[in-house]
Amino acid sequence: MNPRDLLDQLLNPYECFTALRTESGPVSYNERGKFWEVFEYDDVLALASDHETFSSDGSQFVEHPDQMVKGQSVLTTDPPRHRQLRSLVSQAFTPRAIASMAARIAEITHNLLDQVAWQGAMDIIADLSYPLPVIVISEMLGIPSEDRAQFKHWSDQMVVSEYEDLSRDNIEEYNKRVRTIMRQTLDELYDYFRQVLAERRLQPRHDLVSALLAAQIEGESLSEPDILAFCALLLIAGNITTTNLIGNALLCFDEHPEAMEQLHARPDLIPQAIEEVLRYRSPALLVGRYATRPIEIHGQTIPRGQLIIGWLACANFDQVQFPQPERFDIERTLNRHLAFGHGIHFCLGAPLARLEAKIALGILLERFQHIRRERTQSIETIRSVFIMGPKHLPVTFRA
Ligand code: HEM
Repeated sequence: MNPRDLLDQLLNPYECFTALRTESGPVSYNERGKFWEVFEYDDVLALASDHETFSSDGSQFVEHPDQMVKGQSVLTTDPPRHRQLRSLVSQAFTPRAIASMAARIAEITHNLLDQVAWQGAMDIIADLSYPLPVIVISEMLGIPSEDRAQFKHWSDQMVVSEYEDLSRDNIEEYNKRVRTIMRQTLDELYDYFRQVLAERRLQPRHDLVSALLAAQIEGESLSEPDILAFCALLLIAGNITTTNLIGNALLCFDEHPEAMEQLHARPDLIPQAIEEVLRYRSPALLVGRYATRPIEIHGQTIPRGQLIIGWLACANFDQVQFPQPERFDIERTLNRHLAFGHGIHFCLGAPLARLEAKIALGILLERFQHIRRERTQSIETIRSVFIMGPKHLPVTFRA
């Protein structure tokens, strides 16, 4: 399926990903992109979790890695470096640390809803699901959440921009253009955080940036590029995905009014409903790995060093794993979806994303009744091959 067709069909994820998998077979080589793709649950699970066979560190295999990434975060390292980095940064994300943020997340949600309650209408994305995670992560990092228009611009640049032209361009040209945009964006983002680091070195505070500066692994501090890479990862990857989780949830509930009614009556089902949204409309579509040795998958041998894309969003519709995968069922049990990945790289922010979604949706459904999507406008999805979610989601409600 060409990327433009894929992007056009994302509103019907089951049909879209079933078509993609059927068309490609269990494993296929993407001639245009020069990478391999796997679609089935077991293969995506193995790709995400067998870090000896599948490396997250493209710098060993890509010709000009410095053009793409500066510094290394947990996301792009393998053990033993990954273990060291993860043990450092995970201290800020312990279940206790996350649980202690619940009251503040509720307060931010109430403040955001107060601003729209009187008008009986809101854009779920602009008024709630975008600002909430940005304010939360900004407060964790200790940076002004008022800069969030700037953060949004950087996020959009990193994951969305120019993908519109994906199927039209010559792939080499396209890759070059994307690399240039990413490099420019990272330069701006890193300049911003360099300034924050300089301030915190002089005057540490109780925030994540100060904690990262003070942190040591086996007697060594994190390098400045490593801290910058991690801050950039949190600000971009953590926010946009959580925005889409909340947006996708409302989209699913709007398509299934009986689920919305049930959740009004039984808010205790919200966490389970969130898991089903993660499966049915996975905010992060894929993970990438590099083969560390020639590896055979379904009779095809993938040479060492080649990039393999694992489609999380496809795996989450695999009928071997999920009975009646096409059904959006908020009471689904044994929902072992792969929306947060698997293995050592399992999403560090998953408990935070789940908590934010639970609180935001809980308060929204408690305060507002008859939440309905504005039918006068068609839904536009984000034009990115990495993430899935609506760009805007205007709704009306009774407060
Ligand atoms: C890793 C998805 C929210 C921070 C991952 C991975 C996925 C993912 C699929 C695995 C990548 C791989 O294996 O290569 C999501 C989704 C989210 C979400 C769907 C929201 C619904 C967050 C948040 C944060 C965060 C809120 C932090 C504030 C991270 C980090 C990693 C990661 C640091 C790298 C972990 C490692 O490599 O050890 N995420 N994420 N994510 N995520 Fe998330």
